[in-house]
Amino acid sequence: MIRLENVGFSYGNGQWRLKDVSFAVPAGELAIVAGANGSGKTTLLRHINGLLLPEEGRVLVDGLCTRNALREVRRRVGMVFQHADAQIVGETVSEDVAFGPENLCLPRPEIDGRVREALDAVGLAHKRHQRPHLLSGGEKRRLTIAGIMAMRPKVVVLDEPFSSLDLFGVQQVLRQILALKASGCTVLVTTHDLDKIITHADRLLLLHEGRLVAAGPPDHILPGIEQFGVREPDATRCGMPVRSWLN
Ligand SMILES: Nc1ncnc2c1ncn2[C@@H]1O[C@H](COP(=O)(O)OP(=O)(O)OP(=O)(O)O)[C@@H](O)[C@H]1O
Ligand SMILES: [Mg+2]
Repeated sequence: MIRLENVGFSYGNGQWRLKDVSFAVPAGELAIVAGANGSGKTTLLRHINGLLLPEEGRVLVDGLCTRNALREVRRRVGMVFQHADAQIVGETVSEDVAFGPENLCLPRPEIDGRVREALDAVGLAHKRHQRPHLLSGGEKRRLTIAGIMAMRPKVVVLDEPFSSLDLFGVQQVLRQILALKASGCTVLVTTHDLDKIITHADRLLLLHEGRLVAAGPPDHILPGIEQFGVREPDATRCGMPVRSWLN
C-alpha cells in the first residue's frame, strides 16, 4: 500500500535528510517508524501524503506516485500532525470533524453521519458544540484523529501520537489506532515511546541520520536499537513480551 523507492530529500540545502530510503508496507499493516531526534521521521511521513515530494526516487501509495497523482494520493492518506493545534480549523468540535468530509463534497446527511460516528468513536460526542481550542491536549489529539477517520482514508500516518498524553490518553489514542487497523486501514506511526505500541505493530522501521538502517518484524529489530538513540522497552531487554497499554 505504501512503497518508497530510493527516496532522497534535502530541503534544498545540500544536506540529505532522507537518503536511499526504500521499504514497503502492505495494506492493512501497522508499521512504526522509530529513530532519534532529527533522524528524519517527520520528513518521511510528509512524503507519504505528498506534503513533500522526493528529490530522488519515488513514493507510491496504492500504486499511485505522489509526483504525478498528488490529488488522488491526498484523498487516500490522512495525516495526524504532532501538534494538534496546527490541524484544528473548525469553530466547534463538530465543525472541525466535518471540514474534511465537506472538502470531499459529500452530501450533507453523509457528512453528518460520519461526524457523529467519528466523535462517538473517540469519545467526544458530548463535547460536539464546544470550541476546539478549549479542549485539553489529549482531547485535541482525539479530535484530529476523528477528523481523519471521518474522511475514511485508506492510509493514516500519525506523527508522535502519544506525546504528552497520560495513561488514559495513550489508551484512547491506541484504541483509535487499532480501530483504524481493524477497519482495514494501513497505519504508519512515528514514536519515541516504543513500549506504548510495539506489541501491536507488524513492522518496525528504524531511521538513523536519514537512512533506513533496519526494517522488519519488531522482535528482530529491537535488540541493539539503543545505539541509534531509541530506548528499547524494558520487557524485551529482559527477553519478555511487551505488555499492552490496554490491559
Ligand atoms: N523545514 C526544514 N528546513 C530545513 N531543514 C529541516 C526542515 N525540517 C526539518 N529539517 C531538518 O531535517 C532533519 C530531520 O528532521 P525531522 O523533523 O524529519 O526529524 P524527526 O526524526 O522527526 O525528529 P524529532 O524526533 O525531533 O521529531 C533535521 O536535521 C532537521 O533539522
Ligand atoms: Mg518529528
